[in-house]
Amino acid sequence: MDRIRIAGGRRLNGSIPISGAKNATLPLMIASLLTEETLVLENVPRLADVGLLQRILGNHGVDVMIGGKRPGETSYDGQTLHICAANIIDTTAPYELVSRMRASFWVIAPLLARMGEARVSMPGGCAIGTRPVDLLIMALERLGAAIEIDGGYVVARAGRGLKGGEIKFPKVTVGGTHTAIMAASLANGTTVIENAAREPEIKDVADCLNKMGAKIAGAGTSRIVIEGVARLGGARHRVIPDRIETGTYAMAVAMTGGDVVLENAQPELLQAALDVLIRAGVEVTPTNAGIRIARDGSGLAPVDVTTQPFPGFPTDLQAQLMALMTRGRGISHITETIFENRFMHVQELARLGARIALSGERATIEGVDRLKGAPVMATDLRASVSLVIAALAAEGETMVNRVYHLDRGFERLEDKLAGCGAAIERISA
Ligand code: EPZ
Repeated sequence: MDRIRIAGGRRLNGSIPISGAKNATLPLMIASLLTEETLVLENVPRLADVGLLQRILGNHGVDVMIGGKRPGETSYDGQTLHICAANIIDTTAPYELVSRMRASFWVIAPLLARMGEARVSMPGGCAIGTRPVDLLIMALERLGAAIEIDGGYVVARAGRGLKGGEIKFPKVTVGGTHTAIMAASLANGTTVIENAAREPEIKDVADCLNKMGAKIAGAGTSRIVIEGVARLGGARHRVIPDRIETGTYAMAVAMTGGDVVLENAQPELLQAALDVLIRAGVEVTPTNAGIRIARDGSGLAPVDVTTQPFPGFPTDLQAQLMALMTRGRGISHITETIFENRFMHVQELARLGARIALSGERATIEGVDRLKGAPVMATDLRASVSLVIAALAAEGETMVNRVYHLDRGFERLEDKLAGCGAAIERISA
């Protein structure tokens, strides 16, 4: 397995191009199952999760063609995917594939809506908590699906098609909202989703579905109304920039000090996180090119932050903020309300000299004067990148193991950081 070696202590200066959003790309690729026509997605990031989902869709008979690089394109430009689900040859998503990526469970919605049946493996537990699918199943049942659990598989049937209905989520769920929107798009009649997730990726997928002929109103708010249509067609859609990648590099610059433009980044996608950085004393300036992040030699003020569904502070930036606050001038508090066990990074940050105490869902971080490099590893994507952020400011060398996790969600992380002056390199196995 590859490793990443980082020698800490260098400031970051220059610019970093922000890629297309992983968490918009995955449901957009899945939405291709709703039509026999071709869906063209631009600005798709080169990530291990995108490759894996391509394989999962391939298993259902979906054809994915990756457009070639055009003259003048830099290697950072996103790729263009031509996805065609003209012939669905299999409505089963097997355990071996679904267990490797939770979002692949969402194929249940378009398969059921278009084919009248789907058999999808339960995703199972993962490193950041139990993450059940009960609300996704509830949503499909509200649209008239008959659901049974058989041998670890969720079997969903709607022989005479899905029917519009009312779905009220007792808890905000991104996957539940994606699933409900996709299924309702091809249902007969009107669906109302209450307490819907408002994440920008939900709106991005709804925008694309509307281009495909769906009738979705209110995406991006907590009440979404969908008028079902008989069929959807092809479309061309550009994926929004990745707000979590943006926030991650913003925190890296805040950590090391320096001055970096995050190209293509859109501040409105992560205002809550930018506000936290501003409170910590970081300079944040929206520009025509993206967002400029700067910090001079002054220290970081500690913060008190609670993760919330959008537009609140995202759980996917919690680990990175914690890494940053290990160097705060005083005591910070971070409360994780979305996932019950998303603190895998705490023990590893401690190996670098961080002082963090956990009590239930609340972490207390006591800023230290210095961190020291060490070998570390983490078992999920955002935890891994928090170690990279800490390592950039640690004295000496840090070796981040299991880089596989980083490759799931960060395109060429080491190139982007090295381009701004970080001493970082990948050591291939
Ligand atoms: C999405 O996961 C993201 N994944 C996650 O990003 C992100 O952390 C999460 O939303 C929250 O923002 C993708 O978009 C591919 P949820 P999702 O359903 O949809 C509970 C990353 O690092 N819940 O909004 O799976 C659940 O346990 C990842 O990129 C139920 O109880 O998250 C959690 O506590 C990781 N029953 C809460 O809701 C259900 O049926 C929110 O989960 C579904 C969810």
